[in-house]
Amino acid sequence: MRNIANGYYDWHKRDRVNRDLYDLSGKINKQNYVKKKLIFLKFLEDKVIKRPQNSNQSLPQSEDDQPFLEIWGRSSLKGEVRISGAKNSALVIMAGALLCSDEFRLRNVPSLVDVTRMEQILAALGVKLIRNGNILDIDARNIGQSQAPYDIVSQMRASFFIIGPLLARLGVASVPLPGGCAIGARPVELHVRGLQALGADVRIEHGMVHACVRGRRNRLQGAKIYLDYPSVGATETIMMAATLAEGETIIENAAQEPEVEDLANFCSSMGAKISGAGTNTIVISGVDRLHETDYNIIPDRIEAGTFLVAGAITRSEISLYPIVPEHLASAIAKLQEIGTQVILEDRDRLRVIPGELRATDIETLPYPGFPTDMQAQFMALLTLAEGNSVISETVFENRLRHVAELNRMGADIRVKGNHAIVRGVPMLSGAPVMATDLRASAALVVAGLAAEGKTIVQGLHHLDRGYDNLEAKLRQLGAKIRRVTPDLETSFETPLINQFNPAAS
Ligand code: UD1
Repeated sequence: MRNIANGYYDWHKRDRVNRDLYDLSGKINKQNYVKKKLIFLKFLEDKVIKRPQNSNQSLPQSEDDQPFLEIWGRSSLKGEVRISGAKNSALVIMAGALLCSDEFRLRNVPSLVDVTRMEQILAALGVKLIRNGNILDIDARNIGQSQAPYDIVSQMRASFFIIGPLLARLGVASVPLPGGCAIGARPVELHVRGLQALGADVRIEHGMVHACVRGRRNRLQGAKIYLDYPSVGATETIMMAATLAEGETIIENAAQEPEVEDLANFCSSMGAKISGAGTNTIVISGVDRLHETDYNIIPDRIEAGTFLVAGAITRSEISLYPIVPEHLASAIAKLQEIGTQVILEDRDRLRVIPGELRATDIETLPYPGFPTDMQAQFMALLTLAEGNSVISETVFENRLRHVAELNRMGADIRVKGNHAIVRGVPMLSGAPVMATDLRASAALVVAGLAAEGKTIVQGLHHLDRGYDNLEAKLRQLGAKIRRVTPDLETSFETPLINQFNPAAS
């Protein structure tokens, strides 16, 4: 039975309770009606409206209290945008800081919630960090802890990366199992098997992974490791662990992502001996210690790809820098199939030349295949392409949840297993939508830029994990987009459209 004290009204009881509202002739008794209504309103106020403040058992925070993006679509973009450092490089390189016995400097570190979380994890282990803009000075000489804090690790899967360097440096590490996330179960057995092959005893107990180096020498031993799947994270975990191991480690069927290569370059700049990173066979010869460095993180290819899509979907000519063109090869090839030209203006600068959008098929694959992290944004683009496209997600098992949100904006997408069949529509229309994961949130933003009318994107905690001030960068290009924080927002009387076009107010 529904209960009004829990915010529900018991409609079943209503007729019995309301019998005294009627007089004998069956007409409504106005006096009793007004009296009863006042009692009812008071009851509602006490039990329902005031309840969260009076109760220890607080109700879940509503999305209505959370910041959201308000986008007015159909305006074209213009100008150039600066691409930040790569999230996936920054996170793993920061974990790699635990390998270094000196102080060192990282440059081009993006401002992201995930980076802040990684800073907190390192600080909890005893690492000293000083952040100054996009420069991060790290002093990992004294690591006081081998156990990572659950509350922060549980919020970010990438924090599991610390297990390899901690084990290599201290001979022991305890890290909470990262668990699943919005896009899939994301197991870590390949990381664990790799560490075992390097001579670690690994136990998983009560949600913690405890690893320690076998034998008295306190040093991992090089080994030949074949990965069943070219997992980015497992390749990075094994590579970091092997840098301080005794002897040679060979990783076969290794991930070839640019961020793996960036990690290898970072480790090499500290004196590690690594060859083959960026190919499917990586060879690491262990060294005794790693020394200080000054390292510049590569530009974020996924952020760059998102801006390429933003240009294509709004039919705008924009340029982006700095980028590494070969990191974007699969995305550029797809854009060209879709009808958008991408030209290399300079060694590290691309320009989008928009055109009529045509359908194409996309299958996500490990690098150099099309990145799963760009799938959602390209799906948003293909909703407006002429013809039917098929997008197949092969890397993560649950990464099509943005389909429902794009359909709310007027897209025509059906899901069959891990395939999304996208039938191009002439127009999207703005709607309130909910971000389901990091890249899905970017897809909704680019869809909102192209849609007719206003789009509200909620669930920004996903976006803030991985995009360095996306809305400010888009605004600088001319997009009508703003972040609204309900607590700070006193009035909605001046709609965003009027802020950009005072004549309209
Ligand atoms: C990294 C990236 C993420 C990107 C992904 C694929 C970071 C911080 N994140 O994630 O943005 O989407 O690569 O390019 O760098 N798998 C297993 N067992 C394992 C490990 C992985 O089955 O032990 C599976 C995963 O469930 C997934 C697939 O392998 O289905 C790819 O995962 P992986 O390459 O490991 O991705 P991450 O390193 O987690």
